[in-house]
Amino acid sequence: MDETPRVVIDCDPGHDDAMAIILAARHAEVLGLTTVAGNIGLDLTTRNALVTTQIMGLDVPVRRGAARPLVAPPRDAAHVHGQSGLDGPTLPHLERSEVGTDAVDWLATAARDNPGMWLIPIGPLTNVALAIRRHPDLLGHLRGVSIMGGGTADKPGNLTSMAEFNIAVDPEAAAVLFEQEVPIRMCGLNVTHQFGATDAEAGDFRALGTATGVFVADLLEHYIGAYERTFGIRRAAIHDPCAVLAVTHPELFEFERRRVHIELTGTHTRGMTVVDRRQPGPGDGPVEVAMAIDADRAMELLVDACAAPAL
Ligand code: BDR
Ligand code: CA
Repeated sequence: MDETPRVVIDCDPGHDDAMAIILAARHAEVLGLTTVAGNIGLDLTTRNALVTTQIMGLDVPVRRGAARPLVAPPRDAAHVHGQSGLDGPTLPHLERSEVGTDAVDWLATAARDNPGMWLIPIGPLTNVALAIRRHPDLLGHLRGVSIMGGGTADKPGNLTSMAEFNIAVDPEAAAVLFEQEVPIRMCGLNVTHQFGATDAEAGDFRALGTATGVFVADLLEHYIGAYERTFGIRRAAIHDPCAVLAVTHPELFEFERRRVHIELTGTHTRGMTVVDRRQPGPGDGPVEVAMAIDADRAMELLVDACAAPAL
């Protein structure tokens, strides 16, 4: 890594969102968090972003954005993340407040003030699409956009048979981003499912004894249980940290440069990321699609991020 990347994380915490924030705080300069409705409603994703920063002592501004998708009806993932969006830990009394409700406009301000920053969306892409439409210069200031979302066709979806949650909740928003020529790194389900946590890892985090380690252990115990109830396997995919690692530690990944289309009309495939893997030629494109991750090293980095005392 040449220099510490400056990043803004657009998130919907969410268990794995919280872990992504923790990881980013150790390996990037986090300029701010913006929140979006996704795993649960916007009031709770915003509360959960604030409480995550409070537990780790991270001093970054939190701004709320869109309360619902552009076109699609709202959907959440309470079946995985619980009614609070962050079930598991006993959350402390919230002592922090969001600094504003202007997440969409602030994304452009942050990009203009920090040329070369990365935008890391790890929830539905509603805020990102609204910001691109309202501030067309935004993308020109970015080094790139690193998303958790979608996946290659050989991996089933998790909201529908072919579509991943973040894309499927707001496909029109995703299409706005993927129509741009901005550099995009995409960590989809095909790679995030390679990075899993079991009860053994939850025990490793608890053994750290730090506030952040215990928080992540409590998160994992709920999250692994939810995966077992929902998908029948006692191993949870650590999705969102992959999008952070793709910026801070790209050497952990194998990428393919592809053109990616968002399916908006398919009867059974709406919200699918259609990754054109024909080669050579028509499949080549601007999106760096993550195909493999060094999961052992990724887990070491996540554990290390929780090992230090609160910031
Ligand atoms: C994505 O959906 C959400 O439930 C997770 O936080 C992650 O961003 C995985 O499909
Ligand atoms: Ca998320």
